[in-house]
Amino acid sequence: MMKMTGRALRSAALGALMAGLGAPAMAEELFYVSGAVGNAVENFKTLVKPWEEATGHTVTMVPMPASTTDQFGQYRLWLAAGASDIDLYQTDVIWAPQLADHFVDLTEVAKDLAPTHFPSIIESQTVNGKLVALPIFTDAPALYYRKDLLEKHGKAVPTTWAEMQETAQFIQDAERAAGDADIWGFVWQGNAYEGLTCNALEWVKSFGGGQIVEADGTISVNNENAVAALETAKGWVGTISPEGVLAYQEEEARGLWQTGNAVFMRNWPYAYGLGNGEDSAVKGLFGVTPLPSGGEGSGSAATLGGWNVAVSKYSTKQEAAISLALYLAGPEAQKQRALTESNLPTIVSLYDDAEIAAAQPIIPQWKEVFLNAVPRPSAPTLGKYNEVSARFWSAVHSTLSGNGSAAENLELLEVELTDIKGSGW
Ligand code: GLC
Repeated sequence: MMKMTGRALRSAALGALMAGLGAPAMAEELFYVSGAVGNAVENFKTLVKPWEEATGHTVTMVPMPASTTDQFGQYRLWLAAGASDIDLYQTDVIWAPQLADHFVDLTEVAKDLAPTHFPSIIESQTVNGKLVALPIFTDAPALYYRKDLLEKHGKAVPTTWAEMQETAQFIQDAERAAGDADIWGFVWQGNAYEGLTCNALEWVKSFGGGQIVEADGTISVNNENAVAALETAKGWVGTISPEGVLAYQEEEARGLWQTGNAVFMRNWPYAYGLGNGEDSAVKGLFGVTPLPSGGEGSGSAATLGGWNVAVSKYSTKQEAAISLALYLAGPEAQKQRALTESNLPTIVSLYDDAEIAAAQPIIPQWKEVFLNAVPRPSAPTLGKYNEVSARFWSAVHSTLSGNGSAAENLELLEVELTDIKGSGW
């Protein structure tokens, strides 16, 4: 096959894009709001440059707080007010049903692009036949582990939470005894926000305790496996995890990990490329493995995450905004994001891309993990998902903080969720 240069590929892809949309009448200045972790803000400028050059439009990223929960609150205010100065929103995979009414239907404009993506991801962004947002990357977490430390202490990569806890404690104790006072066994996201819903869903599901609310709408969270899962996690706080983990989001966990002060970390793939960066103390020293399972008879569970781009119904520059959305969800931008931010593409063929596999080996390795990932109950709970999730993470946070037992908090949660559900989701 003839090898095309990056530039040739780029102009071919953009040519096709522009042909589909017709040349723009005038240069527009777009505003794109997005939460940002790691190097996403810097990279956005490089990412959109080819599109800006090809179309003559420009785009400015308006960075949001890192917490997806805070972003959601802000987006809802803007959208409820019909804000016309924001053209595109970067949206979390769980938001489509709640925000659908505010976004442009992309079904028709994406009819050639959408079939190149994993069908389940397109499905997650489709609400009553309307394609609400286009996927730009998907997400499924990993257990990051320090190869060097496991080797030094003769420990295997753990496959159950009990093994993880045992190994974390062992290495933490040994390293502290040898003078490394700052080392911790395990860091994760324990702050009271959406990220804790993701972490706790993984514990509960992997202990055989279900998915909070099942696909058919049944509230399942008050059960003894879920209780056991939360009590197990509570046992980590102050032993293998710092007390401060109850305020950690993704970036705090990564910060501690990247200074070399943790044996294990639960985080999304974006932390892979950054962990191997020049300024990282753990460059080349770590591996990734699926999250541990709860033990006998139950498997590993990874929460399905991911981000999309939506075009605001209130934008006065929709044609240019749609062109940008198609570009960001397309193969060139997804490949760039994979190479520089180790984000998992949503375009099937990129999992066979040799350049991506060489630069970010986690990507092909993680295809099976995200394809088997557990969705949060945003589809069955529809417009009430955010409230359901907030009640869940609060119950979990209380339990982890020693504010009531898991059994008490889950019993109360069931009552609250039943009330929110009312006569139906
Ligand atoms: C990641 C996931 C997103 C999730 C968030 C929680 O960004 O992609 O889906 O809601 O983490 O913190």
